[in-house]
Amino acid sequence: MRVLLLGSGGREHAIGRALARDSEVTGLHAAPGNPGLARLAELHAIDPCDAAEVKALARRLRTDLVVIGPEAPLMAGVSDALRAAGFACFGPSRAAAMVEGSKSFAKQLMQAGGIPTAASRTCRTAAEVGAALGAFGPPYVVKADGLAAGKGVLVTSDRAAATAHAAGCGQVVIEEYLAGPEVSVFALADGTTATTLLPAQDYKRAGDADTGPNTGGMGAYAPVPWVPPHLADEVLARVITPAISELKSRGTPYQGLLYAGLALTSTGMKVIEFNARFGDPETQVILDRLATPLAGLLTAAAAGDLRQAEPPRWRPGAAVTVVIAAEGYPGTPVAGDKVESLQDLPESTGSYVLHAGTTINDGHVVTSGGRVLNVVGTGQDVAEARKAAYATVAQIRVRGGWYRSDIADLASEHARMPPA
Ligand code: AMP
Ligand code: GLY
Repeated sequence: MRVLLLGSGGREHAIGRALARDSEVTGLHAAPGNPGLARLAELHAIDPCDAAEVKALARRLRTDLVVIGPEAPLMAGVSDALRAAGFACFGPSRAAAMVEGSKSFAKQLMQAGGIPTAASRTCRTAAEVGAALGAFGPPYVVKADGLAAGKGVLVTSDRAAATAHAAGCGQVVIEEYLAGPEVSVFALADGTTATTLLPAQDYKRAGDADTGPNTGGMGAYAPVPWVPPHLADEVLARVITPAISELKSRGTPYQGLLYAGLALTSTGMKVIEFNARFGDPETQVILDRLATPLAGLLTAAAAGDLRQAEPPRWRPGAAVTVVIAAEGYPGTPVAGDKVESLQDLPESTGSYVLHAGTTINDGHVVTSGGRVLNVVGTGQDVAEARKAAYATVAQIRVRGGWYRSDIADLASEHARMPPA
């Protein structure tokens, strides 16, 4: 089968790598892709948010499946346009992707489905904001209602800062603070049924020990050895299934990946956020462990046929990914810095490098985005995978580049269950 993958980040490189391993995939194309994907797929320099361009490309390639990586094409209606033209597409409709596109939509959906989440209020005026901050108390959680590329959420104990953030956002959701470690659980959904993937843990803050500003994610690992063994089943029953049932009953069935970001609180698991796509960088570690051919799973989801597909199987062992970020990230990243020594990495170290924010300039790989590379380490357990990842990170030079040094450190506060 011929697959067209939309996007250009580390997530897409990981998805492309898993698709390339699937013997059913005879042609792999990416638009626009990146220098890492260029080794696996034919790249096409089109705008993945332009539905007409994507449709024309899918037609020209006689594509059997289009896989949408990032949220922007979903919000631009690319999945709707592809389905209307008869293409199998992995990625929800614009209407269903509102689980990510609007925090108030997601909250309302969770309420309708009886899904456990933080109590919240949607506020439009300064008076409503003041009342909500007063009602929930510190730490304050203020979320811009619309898409904000990971920058719309402020968690702070400073009421003035919370008020100022709200004032800059227009409509906001203000909610109860959830204390507890965070875990991401992804599900493949076909409109009616769903199947969960391996839980993973992401590191959202820029600095070690979860200090500094929020980012898109600075590292991840899977599996998560300390979560309750039935977490994924519980999330399927209490979160994913009610969400897709509710969306189906509204006439907007969910076909694609539904991402549940969870807090494991002392009073149980609660949803922090939904996303309408594979998470980045959790996907890099989850797909590393996937034994089932990926194209078959995504095709089944796109065709409403998941019930017939075999459930995902996982390779034993663990994977850890460490993000190397550009100078300036998560503010304005510096572009054009040289990435050194990628070619000289030994093959047999149990690790590999995924490209995220890179481009080729004068024959050199240079930075072109905030998160530049994702080094993935593998091993029999998280500790071994972590060692493999950091051994490779230490060999890569990016001028101005930086990374967290505590990813997948299971002894840290980040990876610890709250006392019961
Ligand atoms: P979101 O974009 O909704 O995932 O929020 C980004 C990050 O802010 C999350 O990963 C959490 O670390 C934090 N956060 C969001 N909502 C809450 C909450 N209700 N309580 C505590 N932390 C939160
Ligand atoms: N890793 C968080 C996200 O993809 O939104």
